[in-house]
Amino acid sequence: MPLKLNSIAFALCMAALASCGADSKAPMPPASQDSLQSLGKRLFFSTILDQNGQKSCASCHNPQSGFSSEVSVHAGPNPKLPARNAPSLWHLSFKSAFHWDGGVPSLTQQVLVPLHPMGDFETLPQASVERWNKAHPHETPIDLATLCLALEAFQKSIPVPATPWDTYSKQAQKWNKNAKLAWQEFNQKGCASCHTPPSFTDGKFHNTGLPNLTGDEGRYRITGNPEDRYAFGTPSLRGLNATTPYFHDGRSFALDSAVLIHYRGMHGRELSAESLARIMEVLQSLFVDSTQAQSHIP
Ligand code: HEC
Ligand code: HEC
Repeated sequence: MPLKLNSIAFALCMAALASCGADSKAPMPPASQDSLQSLGKRLFFSTILDQNGQKSCASCHNPQSGFSSEVSVHAGPNPKLPARNAPSLWHLSFKSAFHWDGGVPSLTQQVLVPLHPMGDFETLPQASVERWNKAHPHETPIDLATLCLALEAFQKSIPVPATPWDTYSKQAQKWNKNAKLAWQEFNQKGCASCHTPPSFTDGKFHNTGLPNLTGDEGRYRITGNPEDRYAFGTPSLRGLNATTPYFHDGRSFALDSAVLIHYRGMHGRELSAESLARIMEVLQSLFVDSTQAQSHIP
């Protein structure tokens, strides 16, 4: 059965966005993109949105971990939702649909997934807005649409960090033999067909044959199409040094063993030690300096 939560979130956000235009007494969003962004940043790091005042968005999307989570999965209060790994928010610009199953069509609507009585903040969205306004009595009050748009604006402002690959891919004529062999291996073993440069994702969903540990049916939950059973969105391979653990269920903490089990799942045979070493060189060239994230911490 395709899941209903996303459609509930969708309806709520549409209503919130519509109400923004319809009611002339509704508080206006801050005028400039800049102020929406900075409001979004404050909201992202605030625990006020959480009914219990404990979690912020950053609790699970930690800037020092590529805006991802250090724990394997988060099981929210809704037992019908599969527990999943919190993805990095570095790669949002590569996506046209969000969550591991692509069930959320926009970033504005995604905000209403945690802001839900059965979501991570266990709250009615409007109650979060009221708590925020009450805590900031000297500011222009915000409405729900502004909250959604501000969080979207902040998340869209998170840059994709630069990697060594970005520099040396422009100078292929200068590559040494090892770099050429590594790149060849990455292509020959099929990695680039799904993890396609420069984003290192094809933006699609695939069943890669990983043994199913959590009963999560992936994209099938959204489409009901049997071909989508156990299919998950292809993650970008940029910045893997910062975004452990890996996969939709966070099953791997070590990158080399992640590649080995992934290859085994797809091909039913082992990747040789030599191939692994070459592929690791490519992945390492996509590592990032995660101290770059410091500027995002208020
Ligand atoms: C308790 C942990 C937790 C909190 C708190 C949380 N998230 Fe998430 N977030 C997750 C998990 C887990 C997923 C993956 C859900 C899935 O794929 O079904 C996710 C997915 C996302 C995605 C989709 C990313 C992608 O690449 O598809 C965005 C965007 C996001 N969260 C933003 C936020 C924002 C904004 C907040 C605060 C309003 C927030 N999250 C609060 C755990 C959390
Ligand atoms: C058929 C498409 C496809 C091919 C080919 C493919 N991948 Fe993947 N890759 C995926 C998908 C989909 C996932 C997410 C799977 C999941 O979480 O269940 C993934 C996940 C990963 C991850 C974990 C990243 C993270 O952030 O969680 C790594 C590392 C990875 N792939 C590397 C590789 C390498 C190296 C190769 C070549 C040997 C390769 N992939 C080939 C589709 C593919």
